[in-house]
Amino acid sequence: MKHLSISRLFVIKRLLNITVAVLTTVVVSTQTCSAEPPPIDPDTGLIIDKGFKTVDAYCVGCHTGKKIREHHATRKGWQATILKMQQTGEWKFDAATEKLVLDYLSNNYPQP
Ligand code: HEC
Repeated sequence: MKHLSISRLFVIKRLLNITVAVLTTVVVSTQTCSAEPPPIDPDTGLIIDKGFKTVDAYCVGCHTGKKIREHHATRKGWQATILKMQQTGEWKFDAATEKLVLDYLSNNYPQP
């Protein structure tokens, strides 16, 4: 009798282990399946991605991030816009910064 109950305990333990393993798999796979929305900066509403800090520093001030969020363009279109902004503000991006800003804008706010 004693012997029986011990093996029954083992069966229950194994079933529990299997249940935990299955649940873990379900949780992990649903997490990887659903596309995570990109993180949003609470102050500007802009998508946090590579180049965000530079865009935040240069582009938010004369106007809010809303002007940027609501604008969608091709890389060429964005290039024309940031050229106009540089003329307005009388500053000039160096090539590396311009690339960073253009990558950020055209990746995150592309032409729909
Ligand atoms: C010196 C001030 C200033 C800075 C800095 C500035 N902007 Fe602007 N921006 C403006 C003004 C003024 C307007 C409105 C122009 C208009 O409506 O004709 C504007 C408008 C815009 C618009 C609306 C579309 C358009 O062409 O009018 C977008 C998009 C934009 N800015 C993006 C940017 C980005 C990206 C940066 C950073 C590279 C930036 N701005 C930096 C002054 C600035």
